[in-house]
Amino acid sequence: MTSLYFDAHLFVCCNRRPDGHPRGSCAAKGSEKLRDYMKVRAKELGIANIRVNSAGCLDRCELGPCVVIYPEGVWYKIETREAVDSVLQRHLIEHGRAEALLLP
Ligand code: FES
Repeated sequence: MTSLYFDAHLFVCCNRRPDGHPRGSCAAKGSEKLRDYMKVRAKELGIANIRVNSAGCLDRCELGPCVVIYPEGVWYKIETREAVDSVLQRHLIEHGRAEALLLP
């Protein structure tokens, strides 16, 4: 059996487009601060062996701020700190899904 270097990789889109761009961007909706919070909160919760990374545009801009978690490839919309908490709790601690935040 292959063991992964990290149990999970969380890619938070931190792409920023100029104000007024028709597609908007995750950074313009606060994703950088939410990424920072996610890193701190994951540590506080003792979630080990994961990595939170900044990503460039994930091409789901209209639905953002978004995060995709591998190895499962599950997408969430994370607009608030509460949403980040819910993803960490449901997905990484309970190994389930934060159903209300799932992106199609
Ligand atoms: S700007 Fe975040 S998905 Fe494109």
